[in-house]
Amino acid sequence: MTDRRQFLKWSALGTAALATGCGTAPPPEVENVVQPTKTLPLKGPVVLSTWDHGLAANAKAWDVLKAGGSVLDAVESGVAVVESDMSNRSVGLGGMPDRDGVVTLDACIQDHEGRAGAVAFLEQIEHPISVARAIMERTPHVMLVGEGAQHWALENGFTKRSVPMDAAVRKQWEDWKKEQRYWPAPNVENHDTIGLIAVDGNGHMAGSCTTSGMAFKVHGRVGDSPIIGGGLFVDGDVGAACATGTGELVIRIAGSHTVVELMRNGVEPEEACRQAVQRILAKNPGLKDTQVGFLALRKDGAHGACSVVKGFTYALHTSEGNSLHEATFLSATP
Ligand code: GLY
Repeated sequence: MTDRRQFLKWSALGTAALATGCGTAPPPEVENVVQPTKTLPLKGPVVLSTWDHGLAANAKAWDVLKAGGSVLDAVESGVAVVESDMSNRSVGLGGMPDRDGVVTLDACIQDHEGRAGAVAFLEQIEHPISVARAIMERTPHVMLVGEGAQHWALENGFTKRSVPMDAAVRKQWEDWKKEQRYWPAPNVENHDTIGLIAVDGNGHMAGSCTTSGMAFKVHGRVGDSPIIGGGLFVDGDVGAACATGTGELVIRIAGSHTVVELMRNGVEPEEACRQAVQRILAKNPGLKDTQVGFLALRKDGAHGACSVVKGFTYALHTSEGNSLHEATFLSATP
């Protein structure tokens, strides 16, 4: 990917490119812009997911597809690997606790037909992504939250799992309580949410997104990850997108839906991600020290990524292998 990146110094060309992207003046904080690139369509399945932990998720999703599983099975099983990794501090029950010391989980899933399931503010269930899928398949609803979601999950075959707080995490929580500052530093430990979007060899798409959310969030806070159109959006006729980073910024622009709608209107995947990032920057003048990243996958396998600041990595699995890439970014200031 690195050779596809071209950073232009803030210039008349850069200004024009950004202004065209969203129809508003670019924020002065943006110091670099990315020259949009065109990604060629890829033959066969493509699996795309956020951050370094995406490599393990992609590998599992790929195995499911190779074994003849559906793309929905693949996106669920892929992110479930990361949910089960108790050393991961942004996904699953090993994630960072909220302000009250409780780990609460958010997830959603969407299929080729646009069917969707989501769960938010869920405690003590190892695989929120599977709860989200079960809600989609076994209820007339899209989203369950909190105690009600846990109650429904337990009634429907899921079991409780209690994971004691790691000593190092407890220390971070105790330290955080002294200042109580709610602004996550970008790219902490190189992850925040796993979003995974995929297309199979028949052009069928699905996506999944799961997280323990912002560290030390207010008890009850829900981020973008379980919000259909926020952390994830799939339209089987067009493509799919997912998001990572500060969820509030993503929700406010319906981030993943925005990326898919841009692709629907003919915008290339990477450019669609770039325009969504630009919209966040334009609506949050002075935005600093925070990260949001988008991934986009078009139905024909063309894909792209873009983030607010440097450091957003993503994993791409094609028939040529599973590899890690760094997204293009719009703001030079991490
Ligand atoms: N993107 C994860 C969250 O904000 O909760």
